[in-house]
Amino acid sequence: MKNIDYPLANEIVIFGALGDLSRRKLLPSLYQLELTGLLNENTRIIAVARNDLTLEQFTKQIDESLNEFISEALDAEKLSKFLAKLVYQQLDFKDVKSYSKLGKVLSTVQGARVYYYSTPPAIYGDISQGLKTAKLINDADRVVMEKPIGHCLESSKVINDQVSRYFKENQIYRIDHYLGKETVLNLLVLRFANTLFTNNWDRNCIDHVQITVAESVGIEGRWGFYDEAGQMRDMVQNHLLQVLSLVAMEPPAELSADCVRDEKLKVIRALKPITRQNVKEKTVRGQYADGYLNGVSVPGYLNEEGAKANSKTETFVAIKAEIDNWRWAGVPFYLRTGKRMPQKHSEIVVHFKQQAHNIFSESYANLPCNKLTIRLQPDEGVELDMMNKIPGIASQMQIHENKLDLSFSQAYDNQRVVDAYERLLLEVIKGDQSLFVRRDEVEAAWEWADSIIDAWQSTNEAPKPYAAGSWGPVSSISLIARDDRHWVE
Ligand code: BG6
Repeated sequence: MKNIDYPLANEIVIFGALGDLSRRKLLPSLYQLELTGLLNENTRIIAVARNDLTLEQFTKQIDESLNEFISEALDAEKLSKFLAKLVYQQLDFKDVKSYSKLGKVLSTVQGARVYYYSTPPAIYGDISQGLKTAKLINDADRVVMEKPIGHCLESSKVINDQVSRYFKENQIYRIDHYLGKETVLNLLVLRFANTLFTNNWDRNCIDHVQITVAESVGIEGRWGFYDEAGQMRDMVQNHLLQVLSLVAMEPPAELSADCVRDEKLKVIRALKPITRQNVKEKTVRGQYADGYLNGVSVPGYLNEEGAKANSKTETFVAIKAEIDNWRWAGVPFYLRTGKRMPQKHSEIVVHFKQQAHNIFSESYANLPCNKLTIRLQPDEGVELDMMNKIPGIASQMQIHENKLDLSFSQAYDNQRVVDAYERLLLEVIKGDQSLFVRRDEVEAAWEWADSIIDAWQSTNEAPKPYAAGSWGPVSSISLIARDDRHWVE
């Protein structure tokens, strides 16, 4: 993305440094940046948490986490260089007066800081106030906020207001880690660096689009948190809408943060509202029941540890989304996401329209449409289904469907797929907001999601059960079958 003239940040302060996100993603990503030489020599990582630990105890825990969460062998020299960058500070996040303790370990040398809030959003305001009280916020500093920002539009406004009292919008980095994924970023390149797609990307050429984000994992010990959110708030309001907006947006005039975000915002604002009147026809909510994954029996959502027996929270959502604008009128975007599906599998499939006239009817009565598949994860790549002549004389003009398949791991010599957090952390350190979500985008996304959630609540129906290890409730097949289409499996 475009280089912006901000100073590099040389102090990264992680609040909630002993939490799951920090141990699984943030610290391993910072280690990878060290390994690839992308972290500055003088960078310091200030880990802040509630626990009373010595630096030695903290460093030992992080050493263990890195070994656990990084699949390749660690480089001993780089590891010790990385661990030497760590500083640990115990803090009670809600006690705004105690932040002067943090001030004592921060450097007084000029340079920008990144404050990473890896804590529940309810205390983002307290942390910001604590930093301000201790005079620890300078104009060049940045704050990173993890999703979910709020539970609905109103609560997201409260959190954003609390943080904006102390940081300006150009200092606020709202993370949606899908925007840091290689294949999601590649959408921009695919669409805007290839005339073939740029000129065929609209209602005249495209029949419909499917976006699937399937996970085989269940709730992984976070039942309490997840039950408050559900798949709509956890995945659709953010990740799926961000992917959808990159697929559907108008070409931005340039790659600057605001140009890209302006275009994404227009898409989210153009989504047709789903209301009580049409919610049953346009959406499906599901909840996984007991089932099997890879031949192993797994408990249903209501039988997971810590579950409340009568929860109506959804773990699967399918939506027929429509974008009310010139480019996409009449082109449905079918979204589908769920936990405990047969495999981890995320992709976008763009179905082009059928040929107007078929001169190959002897081979194919109905010519299949071209399909462009963007495999987000795993096995990242791009695939184009197209018709081809079967080679040879005997086959005459027999044709069949075949694939042009660009697998990134083969094309780029098994290069490691960079974790989204590595890229995003580096962008914050550089001070580039392009891959972060602006406040108006978050709010527009909540507005659309809230109306669906309200409509579900008004029907008071329980989500449809589906067996763990399946592709969701049967009604998600009907959702698309009603339009004479089917999900790509
Ligand atoms: C997170 C959600 O934002 O994304 C999780 O809170 C989900 O519930 C995760 O499992 C999926 O991320 P990824 O990168 O594994 O697709």
